[in-house]
Amino acid sequence: MKGDQYINDSKTMNTSTKTSYATSFEKEVAEGLSAYPKYLSSKYFYDAKGDKLFQDIMAMPSYYLTNCEYEIFETHKADIAKSFADTGGFDLIELGAGDGKKTKVLLKELVAQNRAFTYLPIDISQNVLDGLQTSIQNEIPEVVTKPQQGMYFEVLEALTKYNSRKKVIMVLGSNIGNLLHPKAIDFLKKIEQAMGPQDILFMGFDQKKDPKVILDAYNDPEGITAAFNKNILHRINTELDANFEVDAFTHWEVYDPESGTAKSYLISNKEQTVDIDKIDLTIHLTAWESIHTEISQKYDDAIVAWLAKEAGLQISDQYTDAKNYYKNYIFTKQPS
Ligand code: AVJ
Repeated sequence: MKGDQYINDSKTMNTSTKTSYATSFEKEVAEGLSAYPKYLSSKYFYDAKGDKLFQDIMAMPSYYLTNCEYEIFETHKADIAKSFADTGGFDLIELGAGDGKKTKVLLKELVAQNRAFTYLPIDISQNVLDGLQTSIQNEIPEVVTKPQQGMYFEVLEALTKYNSRKKVIMVLGSNIGNLLHPKAIDFLKKIEQAMGPQDILFMGFDQKKDPKVILDAYNDPEGITAAFNKNILHRINTELDANFEVDAFTHWEVYDPESGTAKSYLISNKEQTVDIDKIDLTIHLTAWESIHTEISQKYDDAIVAWLAKEAGLQISDQYTDAKNYYKNYIFTKQPS
């Protein structure tokens, strides 16, 4: 067909001859940057530098999520710890553990209530797990910690074997917000399948609120969030031998109050051609072309109840902060 000539113009085509990739990072970078519009997965923000930048984000007052969840834990720790407990003891499994600042509030309360439990933090970053284990050993030596390194879904499969006693599965920080609803339902379903009738899921969901507050959380004037977003390009440059001109990108945040979806983009300020040598890929960006890098979904009770229902779960309890910015829900399996 004659038109193909134009479509296959070397300037607009992103060319790769590779069909197999050594890592999921390589594969997903190749897929996302060959697509139109371009995208990358926010799960690749988190190398040592990304972990540090996310810590800095959590310390910013404008990133209200961390403080709200901390306030919820401080205010309701006695009730939350009571709902976790079981006469036979329990396993406390945390997906995406992070630095444990909030979790430690609960761990201390569980120790104070003399509850028998083992803490199993799961994180993609070994770096994060090492830091967490050290700080727990120093601050709450009574807690038995068994860190597990890996991706959520991989580790979730392994979870099913922890069924000798009650499981409490914890996902904090509104981490589920990186997933659009269909994927969030799949994620919840996998957790539901790993749960027994007595098990509970304790999960944080950032709530819909004044859009200005949400945009400010992802758009700090110091540029920490921008650096966090751009870190994915630095990773591609370093780990996949690429030559992105990182300074020629702008971090851009949008929030749609109707869907409750906040989206992060990197926008190329100028035309650039980028070689990603490790995966034999050359991509072309026109001036002001975007790369979508992250979604941070916001919720309300109706959406959370719907997600739970679709996944075979039900809300059994919930806790919120004074401003109603954030909620932690307790889910159980739907009775069969
Ligand atoms: C860790 C995924 C919950 O989306 O709010 C913070 C990550 N991105 N600032 C979020 C993040 C930009 C965060 N989660």
